[in-house]
Amino acid sequence: MNEVVDVRLKVFGRKDLLGLQDLHPDEIRLILDTARSFREISERPIKKVPTLRGKTLVNLFYEPSTRTRTSFEIAAKRLSADIININVPQSSIVKGEGLKDTVKTIEAMEASIVVIRHGQAGVPHILAHMVKSSIINAGDGAHEHPTQGLIDMFTILEKKGSLEGLRIVIVGDILHSRVARSNIFGLTKMGAKVCVCGPPTLIPPKVEQLKVEVYYKLEEAIKDADVIMLLRMQLERQCPNLFPTLLEYTKLYGLNKERLRVASQDVLVMHPGPINRGIEITPDVADSHYSVICDQVRNGIAVRMTVLYLLSGNRGRL
Ligand code: CP
Repeated sequence: MNEVVDVRLKVFGRKDLLGLQDLHPDEIRLILDTARSFREISERPIKKVPTLRGKTLVNLFYEPSTRTRTSFEIAAKRLSADIININVPQSSIVKGEGLKDTVKTIEAMEASIVVIRHGQAGVPHILAHMVKSSIINAGDGAHEHPTQGLIDMFTILEKKGSLEGLRIVIVGDILHSRVARSNIFGLTKMGAKVCVCGPPTLIPPKVEQLKVEVYYKLEEAIKDADVIMLLRMQLERQCPNLFPTLLEYTKLYGLNKERLRVASQDVLVMHPGPINRGIEITPDVADSHYSVICDQVRNGIAVRMTVLYLLSGNRGRL
């Protein structure tokens, strides 16, 4: 595997992973192809390789996370890197230390890679210019969540064999969803037909310019869909009064078995998590054979191993 990946490293010339908007389709293809090799490692009895021995990764999460933070930690450990999780509420950030000084401090401790999640869009991009460490965007406000987009593409590819021409419908709070944006950028570049559906107040103005079709009625949007990707209501980012109540939202946009009938027979139901059972998805659909939600989580480790590996191979300074 090393020989194959070494050749690939020569064409992945990036220090950071900030978003999918500025990635070339060949770079996305490279990550998705390489992730297949890393998935195999997770299927071995001893799930560890020495590839990143001596490298240090720091998780710096200003917002809560279960999947992203944990899977970066598992990914780093499977590659034999050292991993530190900064506990933000117990750190000097609460004494007023700013973002720049926090990350400069982490860099001075020779961290090769900093994985950052922050409530403000653009923070990872600013930090990427300030430090030599590689920066991975683990979600910046409502902007992008590139590794989640890559995981979702990898999962669809694994199940369907190709992304080209698939009808993929993203449902819910598109306006505040960094997952939706990364998926739109990635999937359209890879030839999928992307549709978005939700209450008019939760669809970004001029979203058609991102080459997506817009629907306001769930039944119309998911007709013949190959993939339905549900989103959580991002109540923590919403202004009040964007829709009447969660009950009303569920009535109009919640996915249940009855509504699923109009989709393609082998439709995939996806959700980046965390899910709110009974709101955007009924429990019977979340646990049905259509659902690949747990596959998304599992694939998160392989995709994040790949990203750590490709970014580390491009370095040599630290
Ligand atoms: N999908 C996702 O980002 O989940 P977490 O918030 O749990 O990391």
